[in-house]
Amino acid sequence: MAIEITNLEYTYGKNTIFEYQALNGIDLTIDDSSFVAIIGKTGSGKSSLIQHLNAILLPDKGEVKVNDFTMTNNDKKTSFKELRKQVGLVFQFSEYQLFEESVIKDVMFGPLNFGVSEEDAKELALKYLKMVNLDESIYEKSPFELSGGQKRRVAIAGILAMDPSIIVLDEPTAGLDPQGAIEIMEIFLTLKNEFHKTLILVSHDMDFVYQYADEIILLNEGKVVVKEDKVAFFNEPFLSEYNIEKPQLLIAYENFMKHKASEFISFEKLITEIEGELDNVK
Ligand SMILES: Nc1ncnc2c1ncn2[C@@H]1O[C@H](COP(=O)(O)OP(=O)(O)O)[C@@H](O)[C@H]1O
Ligand SMILES: [Mg+2]
Repeated sequence: MAIEITNLEYTYGKNTIFEYQALNGIDLTIDDSSFVAIIGKTGSGKSSLIQHLNAILLPDKGEVKVNDFTMTNNDKKTSFKELRKQVGLVFQFSEYQLFEESVIKDVMFGPLNFGVSEEDAKELALKYLKMVNLDESIYEKSPFELSGGQKRRVAIAGILAMDPSIIVLDEPTAGLDPQGAIEIMEIFLTLKNEFHKTLILVSHDMDFVYQYADEIILLNEGKVVVKEDKVAFFNEPFLSEYNIEKPQLLIAYENFMKHKASEFISFEKLITEIEGELDNVK
């Protein structure tokens, strides 16, 4: 089990007039090498939850277990340096975290910080810049000269260069053009399928969630409403209650079934018809 969370509560601004309880008793387990999506309305606690996974936030109550680490209210954030290497967190708008004078130095920063030699850090940086499909011609440029999508890839390469076993992505495709977004999602899928990483994706994009994740975790008001297989999830009657849009692929399929269910149809025809419906939806 990669992650085991028991009765996690977290409150911002404790004992101030801004006091707000963001997490209200989260119970959750996430298996090794799984690809899960965390969804829920803005303010439901998604970002607060994932910041507990590498001890950026510590629980007020309850317990967060990640790999061999256990975090409770009695711990100090400074005790979890090794954990931060194992759990790579790609923040929302991660491109704002770039700060070095060149792309390559930015990616080398993490490994160097964890005691890797200059030479090995460079090798890691080259490997992961390549993995996120960035062209060599930009490695010596300042990150600030790059496009939004390129910057985000640099930030992702920087996290991957620390070789975390768990990769947590907070809205990694927000604001990217459709093609750039698909390319980034494909990188994550490779990380899961070929490198057996545990992937945790926070996203508002139900098409991506449906296509790439295996399981869905729905948060509402700082609690887990449900965690289940994506196919079962998107057939739940409560989706509209939480303003969750169905993936386009499912809408197309359901429309198709409404019109065609009564006829016998060959498999080839079925595929053609579904593709036709998909084009209509798009
Ligand atoms: N630094 C903070 N200080 C005070 N309240 C915060 C802070 N960060 C988040 N919150 C509040 O906690 C709740 C959950 O926020 P967040 O975890 O960011 O939700 P989500 O990522 O699902 O949009 C929201 O009501 C938000 O306003
Ligand atoms: Mg958020």
